[in-house]
Amino acid sequence: MEIYPNIHYVGVNDRTTGLFESMWSLPKGVSYNAYLINDEKVALVDTVEVCYGEELLVKIRKIIGDKPIDYLIINHMEPDHSGSIAFIKRYYPQIQIVGNKKTFEMIEGFYDITDEKPVIVDDKTTLSLGKYTLNFSLIPMVHWPETMICYDAQQQIAFTGDAFGSFGALNGAVIDTELDYQSYFSEMTRYYACILGKYGTTVQRALKKIATLGVEFKVVCSTHGPVWTKHFGEVLQHYQNLSEAKWKKGLVMVYGSMYDNTRQVAETILEGAASVGVKQIKVHNIATADSSEVLADIYTYNGLAFGGPTYNLTLFPPLDHLMHKLLGREVKNHIGLAFGGFTWASKASSVLNDYLQQIGIKTLEESIEFKQAPKQEVLTLAFEYGKSLGKAILEDENAL
Ligand code: FEO
Repeated sequence: MEIYPNIHYVGVNDRTTGLFESMWSLPKGVSYNAYLINDEKVALVDTVEVCYGEELLVKIRKIIGDKPIDYLIINHMEPDHSGSIAFIKRYYPQIQIVGNKKTFEMIEGFYDITDEKPVIVDDKTTLSLGKYTLNFSLIPMVHWPETMICYDAQQQIAFTGDAFGSFGALNGAVIDTELDYQSYFSEMTRYYACILGKYGTTVQRALKKIATLGVEFKVVCSTHGPVWTKHFGEVLQHYQNLSEAKWKKGLVMVYGSMYDNTRQVAETILEGAASVGVKQIKVHNIATADSSEVLADIYTYNGLAFGGPTYNLTLFPPLDHLMHKLLGREVKNHIGLAFGGFTWASKASSVLNDYLQQIGIKTLEESIEFKQAPKQEVLTLAFEYGKSLGKAILEDENAL
């Protein structure tokens, strides 16, 4: 598939893997994007997950036949992209790997490959292929320390690693104008929340650095999801909002309930929020919820409510796991509320409240605590707290 003169998409769709990084669901699959620049010199930009090396090779050979590949450019070393380096290197033993200093340390570490003629690049390096001339820009921690992009300033095309990526396999076409590009935005949020959620600051730094290159990119090739052309501006804005923690006005309720008592409190908080005009309300029962969907909603809306029972003198474990996921991320600019029940020894509400403080979620009220089944006074309090949370959500000046 030629996406630009002499530049071909040679990536693959993975519709088999259930959990990306063994953690994040892939209901719509994922693409591992690689690109072949068939210039006077031939360059392959990134590879694919190890299982798909053969498919990558078949695609390459359809384009260049027996011609050798001169350069293998590695923008990112996570094995969903670097997994076929050894396979490609076996098939093209003369290929020169192009990466930065950290790239080569990882190639040796993961694949025991020590390149004899490494092309070590930095922000000042230029690599001429003929018609295309590539420059490089290191964007560490988007999403690993070695991550970089390469670009041709004159042709206004960039290969950006995970930046601007999304979950979702590519259904037939590759370029945004040739597919239902808007359907990828929810998968982009879920991808960002799960994979890049810890790195908002470094994503911001990278976006600023890319802006200072002074190139108005016409074609942006990420390692996941569509190739962005006409709609890149919308993607850039979406990544800006995500990395700046600018959320829509809405409430995400995440609760666990063993015998429906916590759920009653959750429902009452929702009624309180809805009564003051909050319309965007997403509810997740943490016992059965897909945690990637929960994170995606948290990375979409400004209001959060978390509630669960006490279990073995601590917080209900499925909710505790979620709190650990949030602790490991940059979760900013949210307004929250905690609530929790107990039967004989109180714990859940205070543990949840501590989590909210540690994560950095602003709370307006103290947490709601109740013993056994919630009495009417607890439900009245829950309704009132739901109202104040709802008002704060709607009045939030930082929200979109
Ligand atoms: Fe798609 Fe961080 O690898």
